[in-house]
Amino acid sequence: MGVAIRGTGSALPEKILTNQDLEKMVDTTDEWIRQRTGMRERHIAEKETVPSLAASACERALENAGKKAEDVELIIVATCTTEMLLPCAACRVQKKLGADKAIAFDINAACGGFLFALNTAHHYIEAGACRNALVVGSEVLSEIIDWTDRSTCVLFGDGAGAVYVEETTKGERSCIIGMSQGSSGMNGQMLYCRGRAVKGETEPEIDSDDLLVHMSGSEVYRFAVRQVPVCIGRALDSAGIGTDDVDIFVLHQANSRIIESIAKTLKADIDRFPMNIERTGNTSSASIPILLDELNRAGRIQKGQTVVLSGFGAGMTYGACVVVW
Ligand code: ACO
Repeated sequence: MGVAIRGTGSALPEKILTNQDLEKMVDTTDEWIRQRTGMRERHIAEKETVPSLAASACERALENAGKKAEDVELIIVATCTTEMLLPCAACRVQKKLGADKAIAFDINAACGGFLFALNTAHHYIEAGACRNALVVGSEVLSEIIDWTDRSTCVLFGDGAGAVYVEETTKGERSCIIGMSQGSSGMNGQMLYCRGRAVKGETEPEIDSDDLLVHMSGSEVYRFAVRQVPVCIGRALDSAGIGTDDVDIFVLHQANSRIIESIAKTLKADIDRFPMNIERTGNTSSASIPILLDELNRAGRIQKGQTVVLSGFGAGMTYGACVVVW
């Protein structure tokens, strides 16, 4: 039995924070941010939350697939920034959608989370544990960012993206045909956050610096440009195809230079690597499904085309998935 992506959806917070706004907050320039990252603006949650963004993205994915929430059997939310420890974001999405039949739980693999969630849903469906799933990446990173640290605060944005996946019908060609994922816990110090404040409030005895993201940008950069092409290669091998067979690479939108370097290593034309990083920044686990939704709705992915999804994140984690659309 195969698993196909039937619908996509995404949601971005209303508020936009531009590079010019950041120039007024920290010692940075629009030119530095654009040249080093490819970003011009990002969306920042004010009233939106991880579950509210996730639920909006899911509603759009269900609408896109022509499906009803009450028939959803599994909801997996990939997130590392949910506002409440309990209940998990997926159960709160279930409540918002009224998807009372679904099994719902979260996965935290940071920016790699969406691919880990998609892989899990794939295995649930293949094993016959359910017939369909909503797989979501949703993040409000702005809550755990140090807004006084120019080396991290310019990079991230908030948002959510979702796909509705379903078991294929007999003889259908559209399905997930290859996957690969991995973790490198020994590199965990490259990007970490010890805890988080609930809506910015901390106990006086807790060092608030501990509740924010710390990152060695250059180490993360080197890890990504080395590991992602290897991971994509493994996923393509598992699908029995090569780089030339891929029509579109939808990569985690962390930095346009990382994406350009990966394209070069794979010897693939950069035109096959669409980006929306200019408008969204790095939305962590949400970046791949947000871009996928934009491409799907713009008609840039045609039925029968081969699409590679791939990303990396804190942990370090990395994953890739090959889909025939
Ligand atoms: N504005 C101006 N100058 C800056 C800024 C800024 N916003 N940030 C850093 N600088 C300065 C540095 O202080 C440094 O100055 P110095 O030479 O005087 O010391 C200089 O710019 C160069 O800094 P580098 O860190 O070497 O710059 P680099 O070219 O590596 O780019 C960047 C930094 C953009 C962070 C890059 O390393 C990167 O994108 N890394 C990957 C980060 C990433 O993807 N993180 C997310 C992972 S996914 C997840 O799980 C959340």
